[in-house]
Amino acid sequence: MCGIVGVVGSRNATDILIQGLQKLEYRGYDSAGIFVTDKNKNSVLVKAVGRISALQEKIDIEVNGTSGIGHTRWATHGKPSKINAHPHVSANSRFVLVHNGVIENFKELKERYLTDDKLVSKTDTEIAVHLIGKLIEEGNLSVVEGFRKALKLLEGSFAFALMDRKDSEIIYVAKNKSPLLIGLGNGYNMICSDAMAMIRETNRFLELYDEEMVIVKRDSVKIMDANGTVVKRKPYIAKLDLSDIGKGAYPYYMLKEIDEQPAVMRKIMQKYIANTNPHQMKVEQEILEAVVKADRIYVIAAGTSSHAGWAAKAFFEQLTKTPVEICLASEFGYNTPLLSKKPLFIYISQSGETADSRQVLVKMKKLGYKALTITNVPGSTLSREADYTLLLYAGSEIAVASTKAYTAQIAVMAVLAKAVGEYIGNSVARSFNLLQELSLVASAIEALLTEKKQIEQKVYKHLQNTRNAFYIGRGADYYASMEAALKLKEISYIQCEGFAAGELKHGTIALIEERTPVQALISNKEIASHTRGNVMEVVSRGAKVLTIVSQDCAQKEDDIVVQIVHPFLTCITMVVPTQLVAYYATLQRKLDVDKPRNLAKSVTVE
Ligand code: G6P
Repeated sequence: MCGIVGVVGSRNATDILIQGLQKLEYRGYDSAGIFVTDKNKNSVLVKAVGRISALQEKIDIEVNGTSGIGHTRWATHGKPSKINAHPHVSANSRFVLVHNGVIENFKELKERYLTDDKLVSKTDTEIAVHLIGKLIEEGNLSVVEGFRKALKLLEGSFAFALMDRKDSEIIYVAKNKSPLLIGLGNGYNMICSDAMAMIRETNRFLELYDEEMVIVKRDSVKIMDANGTVVKRKPYIAKLDLSDIGKGAYPYYMLKEIDEQPAVMRKIMQKYIANTNPHQMKVEQEILEAVVKADRIYVIAAGTSSHAGWAAKAFFEQLTKTPVEICLASEFGYNTPLLSKKPLFIYISQSGETADSRQVLVKMKKLGYKALTITNVPGSTLSREADYTLLLYAGSEIAVASTKAYTAQIAVMAVLAKAVGEYIGNSVARSFNLLQELSLVASAIEALLTEKKQIEQKVYKHLQNTRNAFYIGRGADYYASMEAALKLKEISYIQCEGFAAGELKHGTIALIEERTPVQALISNKEIASHTRGNVMEVVSRGAKVLTIVSQDCAQKEDDIVVQIVHPFLTCITMVVPTQLVAYYATLQRKLDVDKPRNLAKSVTVE
């Protein structure tokens, strides 16, 4: 959610900033801007609406400074426009600021300190930079003093990078809740929201913590805590591979990531299951004990990750004998239910940065409750701040619509449930051979991927020209339906609901009319006839139906048949065809599959 980059002391600052912003586009892509300056204080500030490519087109070859900051925006305050794009400047343009986050008390600050200022944008960021400028100049303070004074007045979340046109060789950085890293170069230093943005330049990074302020120069980085005390911190080496980030011959990252799912399943098996004993999971004893001690598991997550929680709930309860509640992060922190006596919190998050999940983690940690994060990103905020982490090993996921991270989340939850089940001697867990079952899942996905052409044709016919659709299913298929519907609507903009098949008749069936597309998921033989009954009900009211069924439930007229896997894991395999449904429906509409409108991959505002 907004990406920030910065560099001090490099000969090709513009190139570093643009390359970095391109890597951060997943965090927001409605507008972008850079400020570049050189030793002689010649500077240029360029902004553009739209993607980084639009910004690039506006940048003159003359822009060849040595330092600068850049920003790619996901609008919160003020619509996407050139005026609202970052960087923003102080009243006399001396200070230049980029910001990720939300200043919650921006109105009060404006009324109290900036009544005479002429503000051109609708952003909270412009208020912040005007305030900083005013405090420094009117109080005759140093930049550090004035910046710190302003930070004390600001409420909300921020990662800030500030430059002073009077000294073009320094970037001042401050962070609270929103992520920011320092990249250490050779003769120059950088800042970025995500290591991926600077991995071409360096693999050495410094983490920052909330309330810290940093002075970044070409040959030094000084970190200070909220009181101004200097903090010593060792850099870490980011293990990111540039080739991991490319999309190779694929037209879109989403298709590449869908295709990678069998390999991700195998990677999870390799990372978490002992070579010598397929029943032995490689999960730290401490984590197992934390689960066993808990009388209830609270899964906190947002979006697709919360659907992974729903998908895992049933097998997790059966294998661990512990009740599981799935909670939306954005609701839980402000509407906390009555907690059990010994809760354990599991945060599922692909990015490990989602602000909604993090606010819960911070609150629950304050109450003394342990946290386990399941994430794809080592060193992410949710991973750092939790007591324990289990990684997804899914490789970078770039497309905004999550695919391989979702299926990996379920697989890792299965690893944890199996490990706990073994630990407590649960016979259901003992007879669940996860190694074998995940291998079957990987093969079932591979088989589906060979049928892309047929699926594409069916989708084109089924979803052509429609503005709405439904997924229906029961049990595990209901949870898969929720995820399938989210995938379809977020990228193709077809309004779609995932419904419990039996619930449709209690109201929503009123929306079924001639040619309404309904996709039915059927993977459980025991209840297949009931879902088939629900299919008949919608067909009788004019719906056209596309069926996605497990082989053991299949009938001649079914559209997509999925190989049989263990009932605990159908929520993985049944979702794969629906990812392809979303992908092809979006291609048919000629939309940008990887970067749907209004969305961002990593949502770092509440
Ligand atoms: C954003 C993304 C979704 C994702 C959700 C939670 O809204 O667009 O795809 O599911 O955030 O993200 P997380 O990184 O916490 O899994």
